[in-house]
Amino acid sequence: MKRTIIITGGAGFIGSHVVRLFVNKYPEYRIINLDKLTYAGNLANLKDIEDKPNYRFVKMDICDFEGVYKLMQEEHVDGIIHLAAESHVDRSIKDPFTFAQTNVMGTLSMLQAAKAYWESLPEKWEGKRFYHISTDEVYGALEMTHPEGIEPPFTTKASSGKHHLAYGEKFFTEDLKYQPHSPYSAAKASSDHFVRAFHDTYGMPTVVTNCSNNYGPYQFPEKLIPLFINNIRHRKPLPVYGKGENVRDWLYVVDHARAIDMIFHEGKVGETYNIGGFNEWKNIDIIKVLINTVDRLLGRPEGADMDLITYVTDRAGHDLRYAIDSSKLQKELGWEPSLQFEEGIEETVRWYLDNQEWMDNVTSGDYQRYYDDMYSHR
Ligand code: NAD
Ligand code: DAU
Repeated sequence: MKRTIIITGGAGFIGSHVVRLFVNKYPEYRIINLDKLTYAGNLANLKDIEDKPNYRFVKMDICDFEGVYKLMQEEHVDGIIHLAAESHVDRSIKDPFTFAQTNVMGTLSMLQAAKAYWESLPEKWEGKRFYHISTDEVYGALEMTHPEGIEPPFTTKASSGKHHLAYGEKFFTEDLKYQPHSPYSAAKASSDHFVRAFHDTYGMPTVVTNCSNNYGPYQFPEKLIPLFINNIRHRKPLPVYGKGENVRDWLYVVDHARAIDMIFHEGKVGETYNIGGFNEWKNIDIIKVLINTVDRLLGRPEGADMDLITYVTDRAGHDLRYAIDSSKLQKELGWEPSLQFEEGIEETVRWYLDNQEWMDNVTSGDYQRYYDDMYSHR
């Protein structure tokens, strides 16, 4: 079956992996990458597929309702995978307006454009899909509870029936009430509610997923893992917030893209799925793994750079623990992460060390000239 899909935020970290997967896996589909190219959008992330015949890049703001509506009409779009967002918690603390504008109003503009276009067609919603990508941060923070006498991490049984190492007995499940704490997660929560409202009120065929922390190639180096790999390489201080005790649940970005592919095609309309790999780590432990791995790969004595660890003032409202229960996705659609964390992190560190030019372009701001050189005359 032929499909024409808009992927928003396709020049960003996760979006670029989703675009690559769809362009390569479905040559019969037309994939339109709609991205405003904010500081986080980088077309160099997609160099390897930019000349494929089934790929088109459109520089556009998701808040531009008219522009999105016209693009949908012109291209006969039948699917939307919506990733475009402001995504960095620290930025949201400094500038919440931009987060409300992009994440809430931008999502509403995408929903309205899709509704207006799809409702104008004789077949209306049939064969259509609006897939909204969200985050586990909307659920708030979990406690670090543990059975008496046992120090975490301990083994616990999630609803999948499998045992996992965990820092607490509770997990984020799809039925949990939303309790966002940061302006970023509050804006994402609001956008999730709008998507569900369009399903419940107008019958739009929507699906929502909430994923845990992603890591892998092409992540903007303001986020923990790429920032710290680059700092270790250049022997710069590593600013650890608070005591480094906060727990995050890490998933390799390609496994997230695989889940998005599966859910876009097979997920049930109106449903929510959590995506995560049952892979909880304290920040400080990940940081030690990063230091050892970078040191080893650069031929330095392992652990030589531990003295770069610098404890700094904690992030305001810093969520203590995230832990996703992805049993529903595993049971209903048979998705499993393909990579163990140890392999994924080794591959990731290797990628950043081997792609110093990419990192230099991003940190110097040079990547933002790529669009002018490559696209503005096309
Ligand atoms: P990112 O910041 O790397 O990329 C965001 C992309 O959106 C960029 O290409 C940017 O140019 C584009 N964009 C921003 N504002 C836009 C606008 N107004 N119009 C059009 N494009 C715009 O983000 P990411 O880490 O790849 O996250 C992608 C999505 O996945 C987000 O919705 C985020 O909330 C969600 N998510 C991220 C993670 C994670 O760990 N990174 C985990 C779960 C969910
Ligand atoms: O859980 C999913 C979320 O993961 C996504 O929705 C967000 O878009 C994504 O940015 C990420 O949010 P986090 O805030 O968890 O990611 P970040 O890389 O900013 O931080 C990870 C942890 O590391 C967090 O506990 C804060 C800490 N940290 C981060 C930075 C940048 C530090 O200690 N020092 C730092 O310099």
